[in-house]
Amino acid sequence: MRSFITFSILLGQLLLTMPFATALTVNANDPNSLKSAASTAAASAVNYYNNRESKLIPGKFDGTWWEGGAFFTFLINYWHWTGDDQYNNLVAEGLSWQGGEDNDFFPSNYSSYLGNDDQEFWALAALTAIEQKFPDNPGHASWLSLAQGAFNDFVARWEVDKASCGGGLRWQLYPTLAGYDSKNAISNGAFFQIAARLARYTNNDTYATWAETVWDWSSTVPLFDNSTWKIYDMTRISENCKDQDVMQWSYNYGSYVTGAAYMYNYTNGGTKWKEGVDGLLNTTWNTFFPTEYGGNILSEVACDPILTCNRDQVCFKGLMANWLSTIALIVPYTYSTILPKLQGSAVGAGAQCSGPNSACGMQWFSQKYDGTSAIEQEMSAMSIFSNALVGFSAPTANSGSSYTAPEAPAPVTADTGGNSTSNPSGGQSSTGYQPPKAMKITGGDRAGAAILTLVFATAWIGMMVWLVIGGAN
Ligand SMILES: *[C@@H]1O[C@H](CO)[C@@H](O)[C@H](O)[C@H]1NC(C)=O
Ligand SMILES: *[C@@H]1O[C@H](CO)[C@@H](O)[C@H](O)[C@H]1NC(C)=O
Ligand SMILES: *[C@@H]1O[C@H](CO)[C@@H](O)[C@H](O)[C@H]1NC(C)=O
Ligand SMILES: *[C@@H]1O[C@H](CO)[C@@H](O)[C@H](O)[C@H]1NC(C)=O
Ligand SMILES: *[C@@H]1O[C@H](CO)[C@@H](O)[C@H](O)[C@H]1NC(C)=O
Ligand SMILES: *[C@@H]1O[C@H](CO)[C@@H](O)[C@H](O)[C@H]1NC(C)=O
Repeated sequence: MRSFITFSILLGQLLLTMPFATALTVNANDPNSLKSAASTAAASAVNYYNNRESKLIPGKFDGTWWEGGAFFTFLINYWHWTGDDQYNNLVAEGLSWQGGEDNDFFPSNYSSYLGNDDQEFWALAALTAIEQKFPDNPGHASWLSLAQGAFNDFVARWEVDKASCGGGLRWQLYPTLAGYDSKNAISNGAFFQIAARLARYTNNDTYATWAETVWDWSSTVPLFDNSTWKIYDMTRISENCKDQDVMQWSYNYGSYVTGAAYMYNYTNGGTKWKEGVDGLLNTTWNTFFPTEYGGNILSEVACDPILTCNRDQVCFKGLMANWLSTIALIVPYTYSTILPKLQGSAVGAGAQCSGPNSACGMQWFSQKYDGTSAIEQEMSAMSIFSNALVGFSAPTANSGSSYTAPEAPAPVTADTGGNSTSNPSGGQSSTGYQPPKAMKITGGDRAGAAILTLVFATAWIGMMVWLVIGGAN
């Protein structure tokens, strides 16, 4: 992801006064109401997708690449929870297409400007496919082999760059990009989660060892404080990974807490992972479910309240919806805590989907349409409506309703019904990235560091504005 601090343009504001602006009324106790809201948001998101400029390239969004991975994750969730398979071919086509020449989600068309996080969100989509039994695409690399191929790339990049900060993945891969000097939370949190999910699915301990390595490394640098369970966005290699910025983003928490949940499940309730799940869920509730909105509505607090979320950031709530419903199933004692948060957020999102033709804004905590509209708003709404259906995953919960819960609601493994084909030696792109041999200070690095300093400064200013405006609680 690259557009770190840009401001969304409120085009939708013009539409505020138009007629036919009805909300999607969501009753969280009625599965058909959630299903119907999910279906409306899905149709709208797919409509944006089908009408994009780059529509001849399956899976490629205009102006961004990573979001295709999030989009397909949410559409697989949509199918999993609602049973509506009308978009499955579109998903399979795009997910296979962007697997790239080496079957590792590092296609040469885009690899020169991709960061680790961009590639990771596609690997996470493939993992969602295998865990929710989305069938492999005949004649193409299996979903599992694509995720394994990407995993092998991350391992290679980590190994070759160990000299800087004792480990960790960089944000960007090339010295010409600003984030090359940075090791950031999402690149490492998502790698941790990918390793943990591969471990649980394949039962291959090599993946679990990597997951633990990434988790342990993260708390040796200021990205991850394992006493307060706070996660910061990035730290700089040129500062020996001793600094940190202050931004709080839900996806950083979500990537780590979900990985911890998979490790908890994989280790059959391991204490280390239980502590991580409990601690990180607690900070997640305290930070992203503000009491001023009742405590059960997800808000991207650094930007939702002041409507400055960029397109990347608008997707974070959708990612969290996917991750929280998963945690509820693989760490079963969290189910009763998580469910009201998903349900409250779904009801909130329904009220926010009150623009023209039920267009969704980003402020789920507000009953009044915020005037923003784009595919990202629809994607996150589709995700929360779909994933709130986890509340009806118990077979007995369905009486009196025409809703049919998935046969296997929780993510499956290779031993419990998953059948995606394994290829543990895939990836390691020959056509694209060559990891840096050593950290050389070049003009490019310095420029990157300067740009990043600016980003840090801007982030501070943004935070101060937010505090002054009264977002803090
Ligand atoms: C790469 O670009 C070419 C030319 O625009 C296009 O035909 C192809 O589909 C692209 N491949 C991917 C993986 O996006
Ligand atoms: C926190 O991280 C430090 C540094 O990695 C480690 O030594 C310590 O055991 C961790 N504590 C917990 C509770 O995981
Ligand atoms: C949860 O967070 C609150 C506030 O940060 C803290 O006081 C409390 O001890 C935490 N509880 C757990 C179980 O970590
Ligand atoms: C692991 O997840 C499964 C659902 O797939 C659940 O039945 C099981 O209880 C979980 N294990 C633990 C230790 O909570
Ligand atoms: C894997 O399972 C799915 C259904 O869950 C099925 O459609 C597919 O044909 C199976 N593939 C193989 C290779 O058995
Ligand atoms: C386990 O995963 C590692 C890492 O990819 C791989 O080298 C090894 O072959 C795998 N083992 C099995 C039995 O698949």
